[in-house]
Amino acid sequence: MNILVLGSGGREHSICYELSKSKKIGKLFCAPGNAGIALVSKIADINTKSFISISNFCKKNKIAMVIPGSEEYLDKGISDFLIMEGISVIGPSKFASSLETSKYFTKKLCDLSKIKTAKWIVCDDAKHAKKIIEERKFPLVLKMDSLAAGKGVIVAKTINEAKIFLNNIIKGNLGNNKSKIIIEECLSGEEGSFFFAVDGTNAKFIGSAKDYKRVYDGNKGLNTGGMGCISPSPKETQKVVSSIMVNIIKPTLKTMNNLGYPFTGFLYAGVMFTKKGIYLIEYNVRLGDPECQAVLARIKNNFLDICIALKKKNIKNIKIKLQSAVSSCVVIASKGYPESYEKGKQIKGIELYKNEKNIKVYHAGTKKNDKGNYITNGGRVLNIVSKAKNIKKSLELTYSVCSNISWKGSFFRKDIGS
Ligand code: AMP
Ligand code: GLY
Repeated sequence: MNILVLGSGGREHSICYELSKSKKIGKLFCAPGNAGIALVSKIADINTKSFISISNFCKKNKIAMVIPGSEEYLDKGISDFLIMEGISVIGPSKFASSLETSKYFTKKLCDLSKIKTAKWIVCDDAKHAKKIIEERKFPLVLKMDSLAAGKGVIVAKTINEAKIFLNNIIKGNLGNNKSKIIIEECLSGEEGSFFFAVDGTNAKFIGSAKDYKRVYDGNKGLNTGGMGCISPSPKETQKVVSSIMVNIIKPTLKTMNNLGYPFTGFLYAGVMFTKKGIYLIEYNVRLGDPECQAVLARIKNNFLDICIALKKKNIKNIKIKLQSAVSSCVVIASKGYPESYEKGKQIKGIELYKNEKNIKVYHAGTKKNDKGNYITNGGRVLNIVSKAKNIKKSLELTYSVCSNISWKGSFFRKDIGS
């Protein structure tokens, strides 16, 4: 089978690496890709902003399946567009992507499906929310309804913090000032991410992770796309997985079908383990980055076989086998990330790790310069992933690699897994 992966991060590098191991792969393409992805896949010359360009490439190269990595493609309706062209896509329709792209949709779905979630109300916009919070007790969580690159949520301890957030939206400094605002009860407990492969009707659990979103040690500093993770989540037990499947995933799939918008692709539930049970915090409609890198490392099945089962809508007939080994992933980033940072710095030490069985160096923001050296080309630059029999050993291995790779201004969190 010829496959096209869309994206250019560490997630897509790990997906391409796993796909490249399958005997069923004919030609493997990725676009836009990066210098690491180019080691395991052909880089397709496509304008990925144009669905027509993607579709033309797929027809010319007899692509059996397109795997979009990020929610951006899904939110823009890549699945709907390519399916109309007769091309298979592993990812939900634009409407089904509302599980990630609209917080209001997900809260409403929780109520319709009787899924435990923080108590909530919806406001027309930030101005309306400012009036409502005057009468409420804090802490409260405020969320923009629409996608806001990780900046759309505030856990506000005081009314003043909430007002600053809302004023920023009103002034146009943050997200879309027409967006609805959700105000919800503040929950406390440990969080975890639980990943599922979903074929419209049935779902299979494929792994879990605990992620570290803040830029600095001790969960300090700005929110990022993720600075590292461990897999599985320390909260994962068979009972927990089965409870999430029965009480969260299955009711979600049933409601999506009742609404006429079945979900196909990868769905991950961000949950909180509270004293009153497991609450759904959010959904994402694709694999997380960098969670995907750690989760895929533990799956014994080939990733392509899981995708084929999704395409054929027979995921229930596939047994997902997870390794007992655990994994960790640490992101090495450029100074300044998640705000502005410089690119083009030469990366030292990267050549040391090529064929290690339990260590992978996935590229997130890299390219090669004219001399053939790897240089930085993004904020999150490399993802170091390792597997070992326990988390302590995996973290030791991952961090031993991190300390050997650097460039001017590189940094990473030292407390992933703590
Ligand atoms: P979300 O984008 O909905 O996942 O929210 C981002 C982060 O805000 C979550 O990962 C939580 O750490 C936090 N958060 C969201 N909703 C709540 C809530 N109801 N109570 C406490 N923390 C929350
Ligand atoms: N690491 C969080 C995300 O992929 O959204």
